[in-house]
Amino acid sequence: MLLVLDLFLVVVAGGLWVAAWPLRGTKAGAAVLIASVLATAARAAVVALLGGAGWWFVPDRLVTAVPLALLSGVVTVTMVRRRTPPAPVLIAAAYVAVAGIAMQFLVGYPVTVGAVAAVFGSGAAALLVWRLPAGAARVAVVATTAGALLAAGVTAAVGSRLPDELDHNAHGADSGHAAHAGSATAPGVSVADLRGPSRTPTRKFTLTARAATVTLPSGATVDAWTFNSQVPGPELRVTQGDVVEVTLRNELPGIGVTLHWHGYDVPVGEDGVAGVTQNAVAPGGTFVYRFEAKDVGSYWYHSHEMSSEAVRKGLYGTLVVTPDRTEPQETDFTLPVHRFDSGATILGGSDRRQTRDVPAGRRVRLRLVNTDNDAHRVAVGGTPYTVSAIDGRDLNGPTVLTAETTLRLPAGGRYDVVFTMPAGAVHVMVDGRTSDGLLLGTGAMPTHPAGTDLDITQYGTSAPGPFDRYDKDHTLVLDRLVRFLDGMPSYAYTVNGTVYPDIPPLLVDRGDAVRTTVVNRGTESHPMHLHGHHVLVLSRNGRPVTGSPLWLDTFDVLPGEVWQVAFRADNPGIWLDHCHNLPHAKQGMVLHVAYRGVTSPFTVGRRTPNHPE
Ligand code: C2O
Ligand code: CU
Repeated sequence: MLLVLDLFLVVVAGGLWVAAWPLRGTKAGAAVLIASVLATAARAAVVALLGGAGWWFVPDRLVTAVPLALLSGVVTVTMVRRRTPPAPVLIAAAYVAVAGIAMQFLVGYPVTVGAVAAVFGSGAAALLVWRLPAGAARVAVVATTAGALLAAGVTAAVGSRLPDELDHNAHGADSGHAAHAGSATAPGVSVADLRGPSRTPTRKFTLTARAATVTLPSGATVDAWTFNSQVPGPELRVTQGDVVEVTLRNELPGIGVTLHWHGYDVPVGEDGVAGVTQNAVAPGGTFVYRFEAKDVGSYWYHSHEMSSEAVRKGLYGTLVVTPDRTEPQETDFTLPVHRFDSGATILGGSDRRQTRDVPAGRRVRLRLVNTDNDAHRVAVGGTPYTVSAIDGRDLNGPTVLTAETTLRLPAGGRYDVVFTMPAGAVHVMVDGRTSDGLLLGTGAMPTHPAGTDLDITQYGTSAPGPFDRYDKDHTLVLDRLVRFLDGMPSYAYTVNGTVYPDIPPLLVDRGDAVRTTVVNRGTESHPMHLHGHHVLVLSRNGRPVTGSPLWLDTFDVLPGEVWQVAFRADNPGIWLDHCHNLPHAKQGMVLHVAYRGVTSPFTVGRRTPNHPE
């Protein structure tokens, strides 16, 4: 709310101060001036409130908000004395107000010396030009200023161009990527050597990527990219302790493919990220993945080559690992929610209401999986239920919920819902639609009262966490700023003011307890996903988690939110950490968590087969 209000006020104040100059001395001018002063005061208040939410939200705003507040003070005083404010004050106010808009879209957090110099330097230059008589000196100032700004722009554009081939070992010595290469004392180990077990697999699957036209139950057709000609791909259901082998074959026309095990903490060589942990599998090629099914729970898989396009088009499926003991009488439905470009939304494989017979008294587990880029809201009507697990990790002491509670699944996230089948029907509703979803049992369609979202940070019973100190502390400030992406100016998604591949990796050593603060300065939510690890949520907006310990692989940082999470660096590799709104990842919001001493022989870029996002 405050972030949107601030954006609105900075634009309004900018417009008003600019309008005040030509109208000065008139009645309308006086009115505009009063409005400018009021807008500036309102913005100062909003900036102060934002500061209360955390320091990260204000430095760029203070750079222009403080001088503008002082200038409007001068304007107010002169107006009270019934005079027209002096021209230089009005011009300066108009300039600073416009600079405030520029700061909003260009600078963000952290504020660099260069950014402040550019803003105030060009202001000073403009003032000089205005004061100087026409002639050589004036031309010189204009030329120097324009030249400096142009040079900075061109340098940024050229610097953002991706090389034809970018490796992860030598890139950006200053950014710390160089440290991947290891040191004299610890020679590097390659991600290609950190593979799954070689013993005989107990479960084998083959997934063949191919293009197919899929007809949905409503009759709508989708030109999809599929695994085994179906969307979603086959559900891979294994038992804890299995050694799983999945052979990926690619029959797509001219498009590479990989398999990434979303939320499953496999060895890095099995993680399936094109250009980081393997080469994308070319058409006609194969790749064999192997991992041990150590953790039970609900997960999913998807291609991580051109993922923003590939997942959307259908290259995904679910992975379910059940405990070794055969759960007595549990009926279990895996319900991935997906949306195609056409807007068609499917739950499982269907865009229509599905019905299933379940006898009363049976224990039912719904495995809700969000494979879309946006959050989806699920409501369960007709029975009390519990959320027994999130992101494949059981919750401690989950309490009983009713239809009045809705579950907001972030992109990439999974919730397990458990209940005992009542005598009547149960309906699983997605995004408020009663026309589709899943209807279990017989009897009248249950009602769906208006509900509020479950706050997972206060759900269940707390338990002590494993961390008592932290070896590494990082802060990631998420934002949306104008940046060059591979040479092209774009309204990109940034981390600490930069975009992939320039975001410095989080360097960790094996065994480290790593704490990360994630701040969202933008106006869109960012479901952040760390590969290869689950993170324990410590706090949200400064409030510690009071419910069950939450071990997540995807946590949704809403606009203005500050999350603090921690993980144990116990899975050596080079891991992606990115927004799972995949178009955001494609537009910059990707970084690596890199273990010191781990190298990758794989590269990304135009001259390679690898374009992970
Ligand atoms: Cu499910 Cu890197 O993603
Ligand atoms: Cu995002």
